[in-house]
Amino acid sequence: MRISDTADVWWKTAVIYCLDVETFIDWSGDGTGDLAGLAQRIDYLEELGVTCIWLMPFYPTPDRDDGYDITDFYGVDQRLGTHGDLVEAIRTARDRGIRVIVDLVVNHTSDQHPWFVSARSSKNSPHRDWYTWVDEPPKDVHLAPVFPDAEDSAWEYDKKTKQYYLHRFYKYQPDLNVTNPLVRDEIAKVMGFWLSLGISGFRVDAVPFLLETVGEPSITLPDPHEYLRSLRAFLGRRTGDGILLGEVNLPHDQQRLFFGQDDGDELTMQFDFIAMQNLYLSMARRDAGPLAAALTARPPIPPDAQWATFVRNHDELTLDKLTDDEREEVFAAFGPDPKMQVYGRGLVRRLPPMLDGDPRRIRMAYSLLFSLPGTPVLFYGEEIGMGENLVDGTRSAVRTPMQWTSGANGGFSTADPDDLPAPVVTGGFSPDHVNVADQRNDPDSLLNFIRLLIARYRACPELGWGRLELIDQPHAQVLVHRMIWDDASLIALHNLAPDAVTVPFTLPDTDPECELTDLLQTGTTTPGKHGETEVELDGYGYRWLRITRPGDRRLR
Ligand code: NOJ
Repeated sequence: MRISDTADVWWKTAVIYCLDVETFIDWSGDGTGDLAGLAQRIDYLEELGVTCIWLMPFYPTPDRDDGYDITDFYGVDQRLGTHGDLVEAIRTARDRGIRVIVDLVVNHTSDQHPWFVSARSSKNSPHRDWYTWVDEPPKDVHLAPVFPDAEDSAWEYDKKTKQYYLHRFYKYQPDLNVTNPLVRDEIAKVMGFWLSLGISGFRVDAVPFLLETVGEPSITLPDPHEYLRSLRAFLGRRTGDGILLGEVNLPHDQQRLFFGQDDGDELTMQFDFIAMQNLYLSMARRDAGPLAAALTARPPIPPDAQWATFVRNHDELTLDKLTDDEREEVFAAFGPDPKMQVYGRGLVRRLPPMLDGDPRRIRMAYSLLFSLPGTPVLFYGEEIGMGENLVDGTRSAVRTPMQWTSGANGGFSTADPDDLPAPVVTGGFSPDHVNVADQRNDPDSLLNFIRLLIARYRACPELGWGRLELIDQPHAQVLVHRMIWDDASLIALHNLAPDAVTVPFTLPDTDPECELTDLLQTGTTTPGKHGETEVELDGYGYRWLRITRPGDRRLR
């Protein structure tokens, strides 16, 4: 049975907005963003048009990895508020038709989590087997640490108990052992707990690492995917339509496995890291080829599964799946300074500064994002074109306070600037130049453009549901793609280069009476007798043309 036989598949056409409560808006005035503030800003998100908020970790944490180091999976960090504040925010969102999903970070805990404190206290601890311990790191499997600047091994020696524990990320984030049934039960309880507070699913952190069973006798968990299936089934039983949006940065063919068997019984959605990386390569080269190739190389996925498309997230812009030469091309174009680069594989910049603040190019990139097949995910501040702080050349560069006004601290907080979780962006992308208040009142702002894209995306189910077709045309710098679903069909054109261009193409199988209605500006184009069409694109231009017929009552 397919999930859609029984449940709403809202995620196929959702617009997801990722935010960190800590940096979104401080309502108490103590310098840290909070859940009370989030509840106050739900109306802003509704106005923007997003349909789902992804809350980054808000759990109690020593905060050494931006909250991804958790000491209590059932708690709310007191800096951010209480369970009551969280439920208020979720309830307000639901009232405005917005769902909430939360980060599920169960590959590891903080080393200060009581489970690990107990586990490392003695080999006889009841929590010892909640983590992976070995006498010697296995010689046959080399596990590269994910953060090579900070760690040279994925194994850390514990002097007291004379064994090594596994940590794929920082050494203060010991990996949980999911071969232990007690750990598996606890993870299900954690999910059940947050679901009962009204959330609609999870963004699942580091999925391939979570399923990894190295260091454990494989017999205890012969098929890790069976475990993922069981989590999905549990979610289905508890909610019917909850989602698992997985972080799986692997080549497409390996990613396919994480969607599960035929009907899709593992992750509901996965970020398309491959398309994202190739989008940057295409922009750097001003050649649509790499992006087109990445999109067409997507493996077929189960009918109700979905790709999540994105331009930036809270981590480095990873380029790890490009070849070394390709990565160097992107570095040269968008982050030549070593302080813009991290881990030898990524950039710690936001999109607008990478594109030199060129409004045409920025809009073209977001027009592409919203017209690609999948569910778009925005990182807070993208809608107003926020920049980054390169001060220390780490991922924190893009984790700066949201810019609400041109006032003190960008309207994020009334506290002393030294008390903020991170300095507000300075320079050309500071709140003086980039903020919500100014853009809300400016019909030509990026904010209003993103609102338009969101509204059109939501009104065109062919974008979320549809089948992709690439349309032939003569210009390497241009991508023309068509999204088809049921009897709806949209053609999107994007020019990745600065010069205007005329794009000829043919729509062979189209009704002779059809017109192409422009969804982003006024106007229609009428194809010739055999479907031959010509469309003008400005430098970095973009058009969304919906195929309409006389008498068609679809919104234009
Ligand atoms: C993936 C998260 O996106 C990243 O921010 C974090 O550092 C690692 N997981 C470890 O939790």
